[in-house]
Amino acid sequence: METGIDIEIEDINKSNLEDIPEPCGGCVYWEFPAEFDQKKLDRRQFQIRKREWFEKTTQEFGTCGKIVYHEGKPIAYAQYAPRDQLVGTGRHESKQLGKVEEGVIFLSCLYITNKKFRDKGIGEKLLQTIIEDLRRRGYKAIETVARRTEAYNPSGPVLFYVRNGFHIKNNTDPEYPLMRLFL
Ligand SMILES: CC(C)(COP(=O)(O)OP(=O)(O)OC[C@H]1O[C@@H](n2cnc3c(N)ncnc32)[C@H](O)[C@@H]1OP(=O)(O)O)[C@@H](O)C(=O)NCCC(=O)NCCS
Repeated sequence: METGIDIEIEDINKSNLEDIPEPCGGCVYWEFPAEFDQKKLDRRQFQIRKREWFEKTTQEFGTCGKIVYHEGKPIAYAQYAPRDQLVGTGRHESKQLGKVEEGVIFLSCLYITNKKFRDKGIGEKLLQTIIEDLRRRGYKAIETVARRTEAYNPSGPVLFYVRNGFHIKNNTDPEYPLMRLFL
């Protein structure tokens, strides 16, 4: 899908960590759920924790996030990694049961943070770029927890994923099913 908008999609690395758009830059819901719930840290400290996570996960797994830019400004963000690097996946009822399955990557966030740029094909383009990246790296599937009745959810609504070829893997919580695409 072509967006018709001039965008650049960049891997997240040391040099652009500061560009992760808010509110995502200071959100550790998936990475450090206990710290997120306790809210003892301030925004700046959460941003530091988030950057630590990115540096460690990039070293261990490789690219684990992307930023979309328009005219040099970040407008969207995505994050993905093996499930054991995203502890917060355990808090969802529609979760992967049992041991971490080899070769399955969890998409925790896909968010067009700048509202002006929604509904223009950018989300789909970002998702397809991630899918291509993971295919090239030899992974077997990508999963996410989507939301059924509305889009307000870290990675967006069920319909968006159905449209992009995902199927429902676990429907224990019908509002937030686990969805999977074989790569
Ligand atoms: C959901 C989201 C990622 C989709 O990205 P997008 O660039 O707006 O979507 P696209 O233009 O690529 O849409 C592709 C298709 O996905 C589906 N889709 C997109 N947004 C949808 C929505 N809100 N509800 C249902 N389906 C949706 C549609 O089928 C759409 O195709 P169509 O326009 O031909 O009908 C984006 O709109 C977003 O980030 N919304 C905010 C979500 C939010 O509040 N997140 C909280 C994070 S903590």
